[in-house]
Amino acid sequence: MQAQIDQYTAEINAFSPANADELETFRIKFLGTKGIIKDLFEQFKTVGPEEKRTFGKVLNQFKQLAEAKYNELKESFDSGLKTPDLGLDLTLPGDDFVVGSRHPLSLVRNEIIDIFKRLGFVVAEGPEIEDDWHNFSALNFPEEHPARDMQDTFFIKKNHGQDDIALRTHTSSVQVRMMEHGKPPFRAIMPGRVYRNEAISARAHCFFHQVEGLYVDENVSFSDLKQTLYQFVKELYGEGTKVRFRPSYFPFTEPSAEMDVSCTICGGTGCNMCKYTGWVEILGCGMVDPNVLENCGIDSKKYTGFAFGMGMERIANLKYVIRDLRLFSENDVRFLKQFQTEML
Ligand code: DAH
Repeated sequence: MQAQIDQYTAEINAFSPANADELETFRIKFLGTKGIIKDLFEQFKTVGPEEKRTFGKVLNQFKQLAEAKYNELKESFDSGLKTPDLGLDLTLPGDDFVVGSRHPLSLVRNEIIDIFKRLGFVVAEGPEIEDDWHNFSALNFPEEHPARDMQDTFFIKKNHGQDDIALRTHTSSVQVRMMEHGKPPFRAIMPGRVYRNEAISARAHCFFHQVEGLYVDENVSFSDLKQTLYQFVKELYGEGTKVRFRPSYFPFTEPSAEMDVSCTICGGTGCNMCKYTGWVEILGCGMVDPNVLENCGIDSKKYTGFAFGMGMERIANLKYVIRDLRLFSENDVRFLKQFQTEML
């Protein structure tokens, strides 16, 4: 009898029903009116008085085990906690398939790269920690000249001279590295992060992103600059977009200009994005100053070139109407999720 009880105990402990029907079969088998426990109690009546004492206890414990197991399983089925373990239940709803999204700045950068690649530009990169030479001096910013104040710089090491080390304030530094290390012709765009010591607000940030462009060869003229940028704008914002160039000043270009596009939001009729002027500025550009070419070891009698630089956040603002710069770096999923479909 003991051996029998041990075997049943093991069976009960291992019992794991896949559904309520199996549990009912278990109940009938062990706890039913013609079940095993009933039968054991019948057998118990026939044993001698000595054995009665030991087996009485064993038998009662066994009955309690079977009842406890049954009650526990019944409760979990009733409360819906235990789903039938059939391996696969095709009636259950599927899990959400979470698709990530590309950051709007990545979308814009990829699009800019695509357009310029089709125009024959390659992509180049440079370091974010720069020395004075590459960020300022080679670009024709005279020392102690007020032009340096145009950029609020984060200095890492400042000795008021050529050994100053800073976070680059613009991607124009990559132009210098490219020209120093290669031979013309150059036709490249240089995307990257830049830093300025500005108070963070909706309209300014201490870091942002730029794309620099450089084309240096024999006989490159301002008309090449205009045509390249015009083509770029048409591809980015659509065929009907107009451009205009306004004279400007940058130490590293001569002549220099800023380029406006007809407002991408209102089409030029006037809205608060373009401050009711119909135009929005998107980039600075100009003919590379001969001093810059010479600083980089390039013969300025033989070669000419144009350069341009634009802020990616600005391009994204106009494309997606994002009015607060802080959104780009806060990683709020409610913001990022809105660009999901752009990925597919
Ligand atoms: N580096 C300028 C800035 O950060 C942008 C720029 C203007 C770049 C004119 C150029 C250029 O290459 O030709 O504001």
